[in-house]
Amino acid sequence: MSAAAAMRLSPETDVDPAAFKAAMRRHAAGVTVVTSRHGATVNGMTATAVCSVSAEPPLVLVVLNRSSASHGVVSRGGAFALNFLSEDQSDLAAYFAGRDGKSFDAVPHRIGASGCPLIEGCAARLDCVLESQHNAGTHTIFVGRVLHAETSDRAALVYGDAAFAGLRTL
Ligand SMILES: Cc1cc2nc3c(=O)[nH]c(=O)nc-3n(C[C@H](O)[C@H](O)[C@H](O)COP(=O)(O)O)c2cc1C
Repeated sequence: MSAAAAMRLSPETDVDPAAFKAAMRRHAAGVTVVTSRHGATVNGMTATAVCSVSAEPPLVLVVLNRSSASHGVVSRGGAFALNFLSEDQSDLAAYFAGRDGKSFDAVPHRIGASGCPLIEGCAARLDCVLESQHNAGTHTIFVGRVLHAETSDRAALVYGDAAFAGLRTL
């Protein structure tokens, strides 16, 4: 029996979580700050599990740990914005990867139609309303419908092998 056929018969795997994480560290990805709002609560978190889903209609997804504060804010607020960081914004990536006391007071931004912060100086920004959500292990996949898209000519910030790097555009 082929390995693929065996996997179809037995979906359980014995992959070591450390081996899985080591492999995923080699997956370089753009760095995004996911912003969200529910009433007076505004939050932002760094995420790399972000992906385009569909162009017509324009849909994107972001995968959030249920233990994050952002998870509840996105779920209850019904909206999020994706701020694709530029190469000179690794300080914001580190700041929004923190857990507590995050404020936008010192982060230049404006509020989008969704009510979520759109951070200045990004490579691109997408303002989204929540379209659907799907449970996946310890995380939830949030699918958003894009209300507004903006792009700059700044080079994107990338994360891989536990390091940030700028991606020079051609
Ligand atoms: C480079 C990088 C990428 C990350 N990507 C994700 C992600 O895709 N999904 C996620 O749930 N957490 C991700 N995290 C962890 C969150 O940023 C972190 O848990 C944060 O404290 C959550 O903030 P919150 O609790 O205020 O929402 C990432 C962290 C870093 C440094």
